[in-house]
Amino acid sequence: MAIRIKTKEQIEGIRESSKLAASVLKYLEEFVVPGNTTKYINDKALEYIKDHGATPATLGYKGFTGSICTSPNEVICHGVPNQYELKEGDILNIDVTTILNKYYGDTCKMYAVGEISDNAQRLIDVTKTCLKKGVEECYPGNRFGNIGYQISRYAHKKGYSVVWQFCGHGVGLKFHEDPEVSHIADKNTGKRMRPGMIFTIEPMINEGVAEAVIDRADGWTARTRDGKLSAQFEHTILITDKGCECLTDVYGEY
Ligand code: MF3
Ligand code: CO
Ligand code: CO
Repeated sequence: MAIRIKTKEQIEGIRESSKLAASVLKYLEEFVVPGNTTKYINDKALEYIKDHGATPATLGYKGFTGSICTSPNEVICHGVPNQYELKEGDILNIDVTTILNKYYGDTCKMYAVGEISDNAQRLIDVTKTCLKKGVEECYPGNRFGNIGYQISRYAHKKGYSVVWQFCGHGVGLKFHEDPEVSHIADKNTGKRMRPGMIFTIEPMINEGVAEAVIDRADGWTARTRDGKLSAQFEHTILITDKGCECLTDVYGEY
């Protein structure tokens, strides 16, 4: 399928939804503390999203029961909010996708629960840099493969593995659109980026093996096969005439 070029009006709508999704991540910071369950954080997110006139895209999506994904420690992604109580030293990924006036925005980040180990902090830092390296490849004429090429090169250099079973994706008018944005790829492969394309980059980086195993009970929660830590960051990116705009940059990092 061809990659959609969004109209000016669509871009404006997706920008607003993306901003809202990112503001949810900021709002949730104060609730990511020892003793809170991931379900409690989920409910705070749902309330905030509804208060801002939007709905969570994940709720009811292919049977998913959460308004956000909450993925602690060895959970790679798609963690289902539940009665798990956060404890000092945990790391947690929260992934938010909003639908605002029909438009989708998608972003995730890592949180530290109290004091975390140096190993965990280093994994988070490297994963955040991986996303940055991917975004640096976003400009008209460049090929999508260069995103995954740079991400995997950096992650491997730091001694980590890159999850291949889940990818970034076109986003905006639907939750998941073309193209698939792989986080491991060969240099100068794939389609070319054009102004008006909107997609996510969302590298999942593991301490140990790359392989993900899906929880048999809930059918969603993806864990590292070896039980070692995993981290992820995600932004929604618009290709512009000159380069790109990070639509979910609520912290002013891009
Ligand atoms: N937000 C996730 C992504 O970035 C998708 C979550 S799908 C769900 O692609 F069903 F698990 F919520
Ligand atoms: Co996504
Ligand atoms: Co997401």
